[in-house]
Amino acid sequence: MADKTFPLNAWYAAAWSHEIEHALAARKICGKDLVLYRTEAGEVAALENACWHRLLPLSLGWLKGDNVVCGYHGLEFNANGRCTHMTAQKTINPSAAVQSYPVIERHRLVWVWPGDPAQADPAKMPDFHWNDGTEYVGEGGTYYSLQCDYRLIVDNLMDLTHETYVHAGSIGDENITETPFDVTHTDRTATVTRWMKGIEPPPFWKKNLGKPGLVDRWQIINFQAPSTICGDVGVAPVGTGAPEGDRSQGVHGCFLAAITPETETSCHYFWNFVRTFKTDDEDLTRAINKAHVNPEGTGLYDQDAFVLQEQQKVIDNNPRMPFYNLNIDAGALWARRLIDRMISDESANLAPLPGEAAE
Ligand code: FES
Ligand SMILES: [Fe+2]
Repeated sequence: MADKTFPLNAWYAAAWSHEIEHALAARKICGKDLVLYRTEAGEVAALENACWHRLLPLSLGWLKGDNVVCGYHGLEFNANGRCTHMTAQKTINPSAAVQSYPVIERHRLVWVWPGDPAQADPAKMPDFHWNDGTEYVGEGGTYYSLQCDYRLIVDNLMDLTHETYVHAGSIGDENITETPFDVTHTDRTATVTRWMKGIEPPPFWKKNLGKPGLVDRWQIINFQAPSTICGDVGVAPVGTGAPEGDRSQGVHGCFLAAITPETETSCHYFWNFVRTFKTDDEDLTRAINKAHVNPEGTGLYDQDAFVLQEQQKVIDNNPRMPFYNLNIDAGALWARRLIDRMISDESANLAPLPGEAAE
């Protein structure tokens, strides 16, 4: 088991697109302090959030055009991190720069690559197209800050038996715990598939299907390493061919999660629930969001957040206590295996430090 909890050479969601304006925004990603802003041309820049001179966070300064002005002694840095103005001197020290991080804006999110910029390959972007607002409809994106290791959320979403207990009284359903599931994987993905055939539909699905009778219900949770999940969930009238691939008589949606480590024990959770049914019904969109997170703290993700953060407190107080695994953890175990593989590949590819023998 790797000691590190996350790889650095990966694209991580740093913000929803709508969060980043022509203004300085601080965010810590994988233990690195970043300042994000949108240039006048609309591109997003991500710089190290520490001035080259005396390390004041650049986010405490201001923008002058597309340059960041440090709020302490006025050094200016452009969107690539290069210093373009030095107070009270005509020549600029050529090494004066702060690190800039590769950025891609896609699927309504700003993604950054906190690792080696030379390895930042756009082809390694996670697929999050369900969030584009074209085929699927949802609120557009919600942010949650959680005081827990991001992998606890991965565990949570890869094993939906917790719904029966954590979400008893809403989406909790004995059928989930009673129905076996399959786990498949590739070198970058793990998928948990559960079909509950010929069951009474839970209230949410019964209402939105709008047809009487038993249903075939599915939960197909797809994890992309290191931390993106799409849960394809829905129902169709029993016997209409959904398990064989014909979902035309059913309704379905996807819960989307882009989870980004902030530190080893805290994370950013960008989530959305998108659907292909009743796409013009804005009241339904709002109701679905409110069912997940609400000011009263009674939403589904509020319930998860409580469990996850309580778990983290125990882990912090008992760092040597192990996790034990059950059959229900098979999907989460694959996800963690893929994360660990990315971490160990990254360590194996590290260039030796000066004075260190290459193996
Ligand atoms: S600390 Fe930024 S200019 Fe001095
Ligand atoms: Fe949950």
